[in-house]
Amino acid sequence: MRDAATLGRAPGVTRVVLLLGIETSCDDTATAVVRDGSHVLSSVSTNQDIFHAKYGGIVPEIASRQHVALLSAAIEDALARADTPLAGIDGIAVTAGPGLIGSLVVGVAAAKALAFATGKPLYAVNHLHGHIFAPFLDTGIEPAYPFLALLVSGGHSQIVAVDGPRAMRVLGRTRDDAAGEAFDKTARLLGLPFPGGPAIDALAREGNPSAIAFPRHRPDAGTLDMSFSGVKTSARYLLEREPQRDRADVAASFQAAVVDVLIDRLARAANDAAYRCAVLSGGVAANSALQSAFRAWSERTGIPGYIPERRFCTDNAAMIAAAADRQGELVRADPVTLTANPNFAFS
Ligand code: KG4
Ligand code: ZN
Repeated sequence: MRDAATLGRAPGVTRVVLLLGIETSCDDTATAVVRDGSHVLSSVSTNQDIFHAKYGGIVPEIASRQHVALLSAAIEDALARADTPLAGIDGIAVTAGPGLIGSLVVGVAAAKALAFATGKPLYAVNHLHGHIFAPFLDTGIEPAYPFLALLVSGGHSQIVAVDGPRAMRVLGRTRDDAAGEAFDKTARLLGLPFPGGPAIDALAREGNPSAIAFPRHRPDAGTLDMSFSGVKTSARYLLEREPQRDRADVAASFQAAVVDVLIDRLARAANDAAYRCAVLSGGVAANSALQSAFRAWSERTGIPGYIPERRFCTDNAAMIAAAADRQGELVRADPVTLTANPNFAFS
């Protein structure tokens, strides 16, 4: 399905295509140079957490200003680490949405300027498609279609059927909080620092996941939708009722409830059609309990399961280049007219 002609390479000829990736959809200023959509020559991510932590969440205005301050250096750094001059790059891939508009416009403006000045092709990538291809970075493995993606991040939780590089169907989604959002909000109730997902993951290792029977959302007939606000609210009531409750037990039991719902939906989706593999992706894919449950499911069913390396679970620019490389001409954009789209449609 790769469009070898897209990037100026004749079909059949070994491709050596270098894409510069730029990702600024939220609060990570990320750049990367990726060869053939797979081999990561450099991946730079300047995490802004210290600027947002004291507010307990991401402040869009701060994120946008930090991107402006950091992006030029991050682009130079990615090129230098890849030992590649800008002239050696074959195309520029940028996240065009969804995300925070003030953050997206910084990356999109930079990518447009680079593409316009160099005459190199520009690719406008959907951030979520980037997450879906992240598991294949630096593995040498090419996805076999159709495959299933369990996409769990701070802003999204969905089960996706990936029929081709740009042919995706959402089979089920959260009706309220995203899984990462539920982790972050529950972490705050537990007095843990932002971002809450990694903090709950760490605390949960010392707790008993069966200590508290938090509710598991059951899907309505005919849907694979999920919900996480119930478990978060239960955790809040529990902590109000029993403030002395062991926090590690609360963290472990909360995490177990979220993981159960996610794996339940994955299993149901996989029963409905013949998928050739499955991926777990998005920031929450870094969660150790979710990774174990996903691997166990994969072994049980015999459906190969792929999880990104930890550094490619959370937002990064290598995954944007990975998606652009596979989607090619389907996401080619005009360097003059491209605009950031905070509501960029998934399919
Ligand atoms: O994909 P991502 O970097 O940004 C979005 O596009 O949203 O995901 C960030 C989310 C945050 O909610 C963070 O708490 C969560 O991923 N996260 C985790 C873990 N590491 C990051 N959640 C649970 N366990 C983790 N280890
Ligand atoms: Zn993301």
